[in-house]
Amino acid sequence: MKRTHLCAELNENNLNQKVFLCGWVNSFRDHGNLLFIDLRDKTGLIQIVFNPEINSELHKQAKIIRCEWVIGVKGTVILRSSETINPNLKTGKIEVLAEELEIYNKSQTPPFQLDDYENVSEEIRLRYRFLDLRRPTIQSNLICRHKISSIVRNYLNSNNFVEIETPFLTKSTPEGARDYVVPSRVNPGKFYALPQSPQLFKQLLMVSGFDRYYQIVKCFRDEDLRADRQPEFTQIDLEMSFIDVEDIMSLIEGLLYNVFKEIKGIEISLPIKKLTYKEAMEKYGVDKPDLRFGLELIDVTDIVKNSNFNVFIENINKGGIVKCINAKGCATFSRKDIDDLTKFVATFEAKGLAWFKMTENGLESSIKKFFTDEILHSLVKETKAEPGDLLLFVCDKPEIVYAALGNLRIHIAKLTNKIPQDKYEFVWIYKFPLFEFDKEEKRWVAMHHPFTSPTDDSIDIMLEHPENAYAKAYDIVLNGIELGGGSIRIHNNEIQQKMFKALGISEDEAEEKFGFLLNALKYGAPPHGGIALGFDRLVMLLTNSNSIREVIAFPKTQKAVCLMTQAPSEISEKQLKELSIKVIK
Ligand code: AMO
Ligand code: AMP
Repeated sequence: MKRTHLCAELNENNLNQKVFLCGWVNSFRDHGNLLFIDLRDKTGLIQIVFNPEINSELHKQAKIIRCEWVIGVKGTVILRSSETINPNLKTGKIEVLAEELEIYNKSQTPPFQLDDYENVSEEIRLRYRFLDLRRPTIQSNLICRHKISSIVRNYLNSNNFVEIETPFLTKSTPEGARDYVVPSRVNPGKFYALPQSPQLFKQLLMVSGFDRYYQIVKCFRDEDLRADRQPEFTQIDLEMSFIDVEDIMSLIEGLLYNVFKEIKGIEISLPIKKLTYKEAMEKYGVDKPDLRFGLELIDVTDIVKNSNFNVFIENINKGGIVKCINAKGCATFSRKDIDDLTKFVATFEAKGLAWFKMTENGLESSIKKFFTDEILHSLVKETKAEPGDLLLFVCDKPEIVYAALGNLRIHIAKLTNKIPQDKYEFVWIYKFPLFEFDKEEKRWVAMHHPFTSPTDDSIDIMLEHPENAYAKAYDIVLNGIELGGGSIRIHNNEIQQKMFKALGISEDEAEEKFGFLLNALKYGAPPHGGIALGFDRLVMLLTNSNSIREVIAFPKTQKAVCLMTQAPSEISEKQLKELSIKVIK
């Protein structure tokens, strides 16, 4: 027998038709007389009925069937009686009266019920990922992922991009994270690195004249993992020649517009808002601000510097700043609540959290005595405090204030349910600093990567004043998540050399690490730039998933382990010997 239909494609138009369906037994209910099976395939569920009065032999056969068995059923589509209609099921008005049954395969009792997955640890689900992947939500996530990649491909193809593959076994590219390395058997003692991104190759493709390249490509980074980070993840990676920042921005805006229109039916308003890095840090404390809610950081250094509150004064005298957020309506927070918030900011090294509650009689706090009425009045004005509001202050070095209040802002928004779940707030962050100071290595490092072009007015000052140099780099942020980042590249060998000098990379080291790129820059490199979007993150946001693990077929755990295959694992002595590797435990 051959399948005629998919389960959830059947509807009342198929009434009285003979159909043959195949799939998995989602559930069964034995009512003694009638036996019901919910049959599942990739489209969804349909109810099958076995009636002993019509075919007692078949009914007997069906009685042994259990969950997750794979069966084929021939039958007739009939209407359910009105009292048995299931409004929660797409096929809830109909059922199939079974006439023939084929059992293709039995199943052991699954380690968890597919529709009870929320009560099962993620560890079990990942160990039995092939079962977990049978869940409708995760199937629809992966189908959505496929649709998004087709939309992206169509869009880029129609914009004259060429998809070109770049090597996986390559030389380490400097993207900041640790490399995954692969030993070379035929070159003992030598290693390939798995690419952290195709960065240098896509630049070389521009030098070769391809003009517009893209790839939906795996990247590998050995970094600390979290909900939106996997050791292997996918980028929508692209590069263009003879363009400027605005061209890349409008191309990506068009791409996001198409994806959101087709997947969500949402027309995002273009152009997407832009904030400089400085504006983002000052207002939101982070370079990937969530703009779905307010609670912005307000600078009150100038107001409180005239107070008698020593904590503030001492910090300000040392170059510190005081910022505040107005937690609207949070004056009901108890002492304990505020203590908890103080502990929260302490994880970002803030030494305390000063507060005022706004009442009908003005600001109240245990530290009120250190502030004159005039200062309190200015605070109310600056923070737009209204009765019922809670003002929270951190005073410290700017980076600590930003980290503490930037994260507290999100924490409070979550605590008070201020984050609308159906909103998509995009923002471009641009004009990033060219360098950041690495305290451990005590040297300037590239904030994006060493091939990022300085802004025109930074070229002359980048060696003497690296702290004042900016980059032609940009990130696209959605709902507080960095969706992608890119830059205009350096296409001129002299500026590239200057960049290495600023980074303290010697000529020999540059030659050894990226000689091939430097060489290419000498042979007519066009002006070029690009961007890479985190594909897993995009799918996560479009499917309202909490983690990119929900949109990756076979993800790894926080410890970079695949619980299903048990990778990574030890390899045999023979393999080690062939690779000239000795493992020290
Ligand atoms: P970047 O390092 O910013 O840029 O990476 C681009 C985007 O990739 C996603 N991403 C990740 N997603 C999941 N797991 C990870 N471990 C992970 N790391 C990064 C993020 C990020 O914004 N070559 C440059 C791009 C360019 O300059 O064109 C690059 O890789 O969404
Ligand atoms: P103390 O004088 O240490 O008892 O602090 C008084 C209040 O100021 C407490 O609410 C502290 O949490 C707060 N506080 C202490 N240090 C800071 C700081 N660096 N920034 C903001 N508030 C602080």
